[in-house]
Amino acid sequence: MDIFEALIASHEVQRGLARQLLASVGEPKERERIFGELRTEMAAHETAEERAFYVPLFEHDETVDAARHGVSEHHEMDEMTECLDKRDEGSAEWLEEMGKLLHKLQHHLDEEEEKFFPEAKKVLGKDQQEALGALYREEHDRLQAAQESGDGKVMG
Ligand SMILES: [Fe+2]
Ligand SMILES: [Fe+2]
Repeated sequence: MDIFEALIASHEVQRGLARQLLASVGEPKERERIFGELRTEMAAHETAEERAFYVPLFEHDETVDAARHGVSEHHEMDEMTECLDKRDEGSAEWLEEMGKLLHKLQHHLDEEEEKFFPEAKKVLGKDQQEALGALYREEHDRLQAAQESGDGKVMG
């Protein structure tokens, strides 16, 4: 599995959770569970993606802008998630902010796949694409397990 296939697999998990989250708005218990799962997945994905995808892209002139843009959107989504934490989960305000976060997430995943992946394919060699895919999966799984065991410190 190369880096692009590995990232797309994670993106699909996030899209699925986002759809389930929207469908569960009227069921607080379900909504809470799905939102928790999506947060964990987003956090593990962002960090692993920065290490296995954006760091190598920073090394090439052709992709440095894409890397900057992608990382800054991760930061924006982190801030939106922190904002959600300050609201009453399930309140009208919370639901509105959550809708904005899902909208931003959708945009981000589409932009990565449609714009950044084609650019990255031009600068990353085949062997590197495979090695980065393995690195991504290893980091993602390790970070996800750390989050689930309650050690959120690794992700700030
Ligand atoms: Fe991303
Ligand atoms: Fe991504």
